[in-house]
Amino acid sequence: MVDCHEWHTCQRVLKVFVNFCRTIMKINLKITIIFSMFGKNINLNMIPFAPPRIDDKIINKVIETLKSGWITTGPNVKLFEEKLQKYTGTESVLCTSSATDGLELILRWFGIGKGDEIIIPAYTYCATANVVIHCGAIPVMVDVNKNDFNISINNIKNAITKKTKAIIPVDIGGLPCDYDEISRLINSPAVKSLFSPNNELQKKLGRILILADSAHSIGAVYKNKKIGKIADITVFSFHAVKNLTTAEGGAVVLNLPDEFNNKELKDFLKILGLHGQNKDALTKTKGNWKYDVITAGYKINMTDIQAAMGLVELERYDNDTLKKRKWIFDYYSENFEDDKRLILPVYNNEEKKSSYHLYMLRIKDIDEEKRNIIIKKITEKGVSVNVHFQPLPLLSFYKNLGYGIKDFPVAYDNYKCEISLPSFYDMTEEMLKKVIDSVTKSVNEVLK
Ligand SMILES: Cc1ncc(COP(=O)(O)O)c(C=O)c1O
Repeated sequence: MVDCHEWHTCQRVLKVFVNFCRTIMKINLKITIIFSMFGKNINLNMIPFAPPRIDDKIINKVIETLKSGWITTGPNVKLFEEKLQKYTGTESVLCTSSATDGLELILRWFGIGKGDEIIIPAYTYCATANVVIHCGAIPVMVDVNKNDFNISINNIKNAITKKTKAIIPVDIGGLPCDYDEISRLINSPAVKSLFSPNNELQKKLGRILILADSAHSIGAVYKNKKIGKIADITVFSFHAVKNLTTAEGGAVVLNLPDEFNNKELKDFLKILGLHGQNKDALTKTKGNWKYDVITAGYKINMTDIQAAMGLVELERYDNDTLKKRKWIFDYYSENFEDDKRLILPVYNNEEKKSSYHLYMLRIKDIDEEKRNIIIKKITEKGVSVNVHFQPLPLLSFYKNLGYGIKDFPVAYDNYKCEISLPSFYDMTEEMLKKVIDSVTKSVNEVLK
């Protein structure tokens, strides 16, 4: 038996031990502890690259949805679509399970298939090319601009043939592409007369389709118009690292010319994205069970749990998220401005306002190997960075299809010296100072 005195002593010792552990954990959070494990430095206090903003508002809204009895596509998705319409100033938005699915849905709706050519930038994420390949068409890759990372208009011009059915410009890092120039080009009599439609939809449009891959650029502005209101069709991504996230998810914004009924098209795309079933799960409730299948559709609907996150994210997007992201970008640029070894990203000018998605820094006169050493050194100093993107012709699959990086010299030059810096809502000034210091010191060490 333990007597009363021993029991109290035990409790006191336990209390001291618990307090000791708490103090150690607090210290751990405040200072960077680097220790060696299997010969590698593990930094317990790394600045992450782009963690999502998961706060009580998001958590409570998701819990509310889980408890509501409706978790798949339902009232939240409907409301999120309506709010996205209002936000983009358009009348027709369809939420999807990802941007990839949204892009592919549109290509399939437009009848893209074997023998068709779709122009895309060589400098993008693989999704832009893969959706074209899934449809059996050919992604015609073109080089990008020197001063930013977006598709070059001159190169588009040279790539258009009578097989070209669509162009997928990508707003890399959140900076809008040169949409007016693209529009002028595809509407020019010479290019229009080259267009050879394969079906009634293509005949109705009478020209190349502009399908914007705006995975990075929700909230960006081009000539006073929000992205979504510019291209024929725009696709956003709400993947976990994006500015506005639903964990996974996307949205298709329909902005086709007057010959098309964007509202009716949305209803059809909804069916096409749900196995071709003419009633969704919510509509089938209340005894209204009988449905038909009108085409062999896909399965790409967004859930109400995802939309719950989206509703919270969208409500605070312009006045909170974008403001914070702009502050981060400005902070980096103001502090890097005098370092003549660096090329700072373009993110705002008279015509364009970025969504401040990726801070894509470049370092002058270095090769890929030096860039990679700089990245290693930055990481060892406790900062997570990234590279956006490896031009597609560098990747095995596309290389094996015959694409060669020598045909995309600007894409390679931009890539070889690029480092994307952390940017996320919860970043503090202290963190930014640490990133700037780590980058500067690492560049000094490599370029000494
Ligand atoms: C340029 C670009 N396009 C498309 C996608 C695909 O987005 P999702 O993951 O929502 O399918 C991404 C994803 O990162 C991207 O960066």
